[in-house]
Amino acid sequence: MKTVQTNDAELAANVIKRGGLVAFPTETVYGLGADVFNEAALHNVFIAKKRPPDNPLIVHIASIEQVKILASKIPAAARLFFEAFFPGPLTVVLPRAERVPSIAAAGLETVGVRMPRNPLAAAFLRFCAVPVAAPSANLSGRPSPTTWQAVIEDLDGRIDCVLRGDAAEIGLESTVVDCTSDTPQVLRPGAISIEDLRLVVPQTRIYKSVESTVIRSPGMKHGHYSPHARVVILGGKTAIPREDSSAFIGLAPPAGKFEQVRICSSVEAYANALFEFFRECDRSGIRVIYCEAVAPKGIGAALTDRLRRAAKG
Ligand code: TXA
Ligand code: MG
Repeated sequence: MKTVQTNDAELAANVIKRGGLVAFPTETVYGLGADVFNEAALHNVFIAKKRPPDNPLIVHIASIEQVKILASKIPAAARLFFEAFFPGPLTVVLPRAERVPSIAAAGLETVGVRMPRNPLAAAFLRFCAVPVAAPSANLSGRPSPTTWQAVIEDLDGRIDCVLRGDAAEIGLESTVVDCTSDTPQVLRPGAISIEDLRLVVPQTRIYKSVESTVIRSPGMKHGHYSPHARVVILGGKTAIPREDSSAFIGLAPPAGKFEQVRICSSVEAYANALFEFFRECDRSGIRVIYCEAVAPKGIGAALTDRLRRAAKG
């Protein structure tokens, strides 16, 4: 299959309307979209990404009105989150309306909904006129793509179209908050922090999967975000072993010699650079990537989560 590249949101939306797959930019990472009501297209998303079938997709909308098509009920906490954070880097999990195909939710009775604030994403979703189911536009197990070039690297020839936009503004995937029970629970940390959510709904908790036998966010159990290189998190006292082909990313210049070094001016800049740095290291055959640990506050919590996942490989 030839993958068409375009800057034209309307042209890309027409591919969705014909049942095709389109990668598109958002403020978090690039997504791989399909019409949420087209089961064949949804099936193709799983094939193109080599995604495990038990990992549900996030459904992207252009307006809050579209939530009513997707959810059978909108709990009060969800409404408060929409008012505070939509459009933006937040996914809200709601009871799924029957008309939403089960395959979009990987068989769950719920649906994750997100309204991106990236202007090109918003224009594309308006032209689509239907909600668009979209996981991150990477091959399953690879770091999420923060540029259209990273999408091409993983999916060229496997999808119909790439809508080319700017590099992602945030660079880590959205916060996922489950609003289907009485107390909202954060299933995946992101740029909207637990502190931000608690300003709106004070009882919001962090979901601890270790305490439960039921997996609420199936995607979180898969070995995500891994470069080919081994990832080592550098806490205060970690000694850096001498190894060939090693790289460093963090806030302060490291002691020792590395083939590739990225010093970031803030935790936000570090979060923004991480996935692309992983890809750069893989392209140049780096074997070990040392990553400075950060305080798990604000977006630092999301960054810490992604570093830990990558280190687990
Ligand atoms: O920022 C993002 O969220 C990006 C952009 C494209 O929007 N998308 C993204 O999708 O990261 P993906 O598929 O890579 O991650 C979706 C996460 C997975 O951990 C999945 O398990 C969880 O969201 N999720 C989706 N629907 C869910 C549901 N109904 N219940 C619980 N978790 C859900
Ligand atoms: Mg993903």
